[in-house]
Amino acid sequence: MARGSTAQRGTVLVLGGSSGIGAATVRRLAVDGVPVLFTHRTGEDRAQELCAQLGAAVRTVHCDVRDPASLAAAFEAAGEELGGVVHCAGAWTYTRLADLTLEELDDAWALNGRSVLLTLQHAGRLLPEGGAVVVVSSVAAELAPARQASYVMTKAAAEAAVRVGAKELGRQGIRVVAVRPGATDTPQLRAGTSEKAIEAMAGAPALRRLGDPDDLAGVIAFLLGPDARWVTGTIVEATGGLR
Ligand SMILES: NC(=O)c1ccc[n+]([C@@H]2O[C@H](COP(=O)([O-])OP(=O)(O)OC[C@H]3O[C@@H](n4cnc5c(N)ncnc54)[C@H](OP(=O)(O)O)[C@@H]3O)[C@@H](O)[C@H]2O)c1
Repeated sequence: MARGSTAQRGTVLVLGGSSGIGAATVRRLAVDGVPVLFTHRTGEDRAQELCAQLGAAVRTVHCDVRDPASLAAAFEAAGEELGGVVHCAGAWTYTRLADLTLEELDDAWALNGRSVLLTLQHAGRLLPEGGAVVVVSSVAAELAPARQASYVMTKAAAEAAVRVGAKELGRQGIRVVAVRPGATDTPQLRAGTSEKAIEAMAGAPALRRLGDPDDLAGVIAFLLGPDARWVTGTIVEATGGLR
């Protein structure tokens, strides 16, 4: 049997698999022998490169999770063999409350909040018994840092949806779990955060470094797989020990 095998449960759809934590998860699942369909939005070239590296069992499709029709199409593309879902698409801004616009708030909601609820609806419709959904949240949902109101609020909403979803989908034998990364060394972190702030983030956890995307991929693969069969409706912190 493949390492950490989730293979017996069909294709895993990774929403937001073209970069960072999502891309590491795609790689990890492929190494474990799991067929993967992952989505890209702006990163088609990166996505195609990942497919070329990982072989025929890994496919990619365009999706903007803010658009309900586009999200539904990604689920359709996964086909009848769907066995698991990872919702990893997400983004934050550093905006003070006073400067937060309605457009920015609505965008954060559509991306980090609403799309998680819609994902749970699709999962309930399409996943078989034994299937699992892993939603990538953030420790920010708990720590509530300044200048991240829209992110904190929408990630907290996603976690609330996970807890309700676990109860409703549990009747069908489907598990729903959230993962909370801390600061993780991804293109998004490097693009939007100052070097000084990144240094401070790296010094904060008990293990005194930034998370690596592979650190999260391992946790996500475990939560999707059979050894996590009794884990649902919970929020798993994977931060290197932030508190
Ligand atoms: N990095 C951290 O420190 C950290 C900490 C806590 C939580 N997280 C969470 O971890 C998840 C992944 O973040 P990351 O740091 O790995 O970021 P990343 O490197 O920027 O990757 C984000 C992924 O989401 C996709 N995406 C973004 N907007 C999308 C949209 N509207 N529709 C569909 N896909 C979209 C991107 O696709 P394209 O690249 O193709 O556009 C990419 O595949 C996010 O939910 C984030 O909130 C990250």
